[in-house]
This record gives sequence, structure tokens and C-alpha cells, in this order.
Amino acid sequence: MRIKFEEVKADYQLGPIRTSNIIDNVSIDLPSGTFTAVIGRTGAGKSSLLKLINGLLSPSTGLIQVGNINLTKAQEKEQLNQVRKRVGMVFQFPENQLFAETVEADIAFGPRNFGFSQEQIKVSVQESLNQVGLSADILDRSPFALSGGQQRRVALAGVLATQPDVLVLDEPGAGLDSEGKKQILSLIKQLNHINKLTIILVTHDMNDVAEYTDHVLLMDQGKVISHQPTRTFFSHQAQLVEWEIDLPEVINLQRQIEMKKGLKLPTVSLTKTELINLLIEGKIL
Ligand SMILES: Nc1ncnc2c1ncn2[C@@H]1O[C@H](COP(=O)(O)OP(=O)(O)O)[C@@H](O)[C@H]1O
Ligand SMILES: [Mg+2]
Repeated sequence: MRIKFEEVKADYQLGPIRTSNIIDNVSIDLPSGTFTAVIGRTGAGKSSLLKLINGLLSPSTGLIQVGNINLTKAQEKEQLNQVRKRVGMVFQFPENQLFAETVEADIAFGPRNFGFSQEQIKVSVQESLNQVGLSADILDRSPFALSGGQQRRVALAGVLATQPDVLVLDEPGAGLDSEGKKQILSLIKQLNHINKLTIILVTHDMNDVAEYTDHVLLMDQGKVISHQPTRTFFSHQAQLVEWEIDLPEVINLQRQIEMKKGLKLPTVSLTKTELINLLIEGKIL
């Protein structure tokens, strides 16, 4: 599902006053099936951008399109219901929202809420459990008895069970060990690759941006200051320095090799495999 913003502004009501524009004239176009990293320092507006996409926050001006659903300042409740059915939102530390007595009841909550039939709920719970790589014997257990990594996967399964076309995720790897994080991100990549979900991922980790995403959207003070394919984004080193963006480890490694050998490889590599292939092709390895 394609997502489009046209000159969108948004702010928050803070008691009696409204904040200044937290999202400040954003126009973006995220084609269906893309995997976009949203990056930028704390307070840049990343989480607010995600909230706009699933209707948790309304624009004060401008238009948001999610597939053929239009969201504006004066959106109807019906539009909001529709968009929430299509956009699955995985909040930061989603396991904090687990609440039911069993894993099964927790995962079934979303689809039940959306009016799935008993049979559809059963199938959906089973499928999403498979997707996140958990086995059925976990269904009767309390979600609170699981490990942190398992809890996060159950929370993700609860969102997947509603069968969204778009998945927006706010730092889904935060607080997990590197193995747990890798599992979650590989899973998200699969959902993008195989199930063709449009993914929007907020992250601080440039290694993850390089490895998993195809586009990068950089925000600062509520504005989008760069929106480019991931490889292009990481190709302009001077610009990255100016924006204070860390290089992914693999690009650092590439730079070191290039310096040592006194050469320049034709493109920046986004994964170690790519780097090795470039070195072999250039007869450097
Ligand atoms: N519920 C809220 N009420 C008022 N201001 C908020 C609220 N949520 C976020 N903000 C403000 O909006 C700005 C952007 O926040 P946020 O979208 O959370 O940024 P990020 O996710 O990039 O850290 C910040 O200045 C933050 O203080
Ligand atoms: Mg945030």
C-alpha cells in the first residue's frame, strides 16, 4: 500500500496551548512495498510521523493518503477505522502492552476487535505465530512468563494477526540483545520481501538501516531533510558528516580497505557479502 503526505503539518494540544509544528510541511511518497528507515535525533518528529500514518495523530493541514484512504484534519471516524485496519503499529517496547492471560488471547485481541470470524481468528493467530517463529505450544502460556525476546515476538504477532498491508515500527530492536534484534529485523525484512508489506521503521542503528532498508528518510525539527535510496544516502560521506550520521560498520570497513590499498571501489557496500563480492570482482581478494 502506497503512503503519500502532501504538505502535512501537525502539532499537539498541550493543556491550553498548542505546540508549534511538530511535523512541519512534510510531503513524501512511499511506494507500495518499500522498506523505509526513518532516522533523526530525539525530538525530530519520527514517532509523530508514524502516528500520522495510522491516524493516532491528525494533520492540522495537508493530506495523508494510505492506499485509497484519505486522512485530513476533518477526517471521519470511518476513515480512521479503515486506516487502523490497514496499518499495523508496533510501538516502542510493545511487550508493555501485553495484557491477556494467555498468549493466544493476546494475539487474538486485534483480529477479534476488527470483527474477524472465529475461524478467521484461529487461522490468523496460527499464521502470525508461525511468521514470528514461535511454536503453538506457547499459546496456552501467560505472556508474562516469557523471555523479553519472546514477548516482543508475541506483541508483533498480535499486530500481524490483524493482517495489515503497512507496518510501522518504532525501534523494534531496542533493548534486545543482538541475536534477538537480528531475529526481529530479519522477520520484518521477510514480511517486506515475501508478503510485500510496506514497512516504515524508526531506528537509530545505521547498521540496521544499511542491512535491511531500501530508503532512508532523515528528519530534523519536524521536517524531512533527506529522502533517498539507502545506497545513495550512504554514498555522500561529506553530507553524512555534516548531518552527524554514523557510517554503518561495513562502510567504515570498506573505507579502511580503500585507504590501505589506495583505491576506490565503484559503489558503497551495504552488507559484508556485498563488500566481499566487490573485493573479489576488483581482484583485491
Ligand atoms: N503527546 C505529546 N504532546 C506534546 N508534545 C509532544 C507529544 N509527543 C511528542 N511531542 C513533542 O513533539 C516533538 C517530536 O516528538 P517525537 O515525534 O516523539 O520525536 P522523535 O520520535 O523523533 O523523538 C518533540 O518536541 C516532543 O517533545
Ligand atoms: Mg520517538
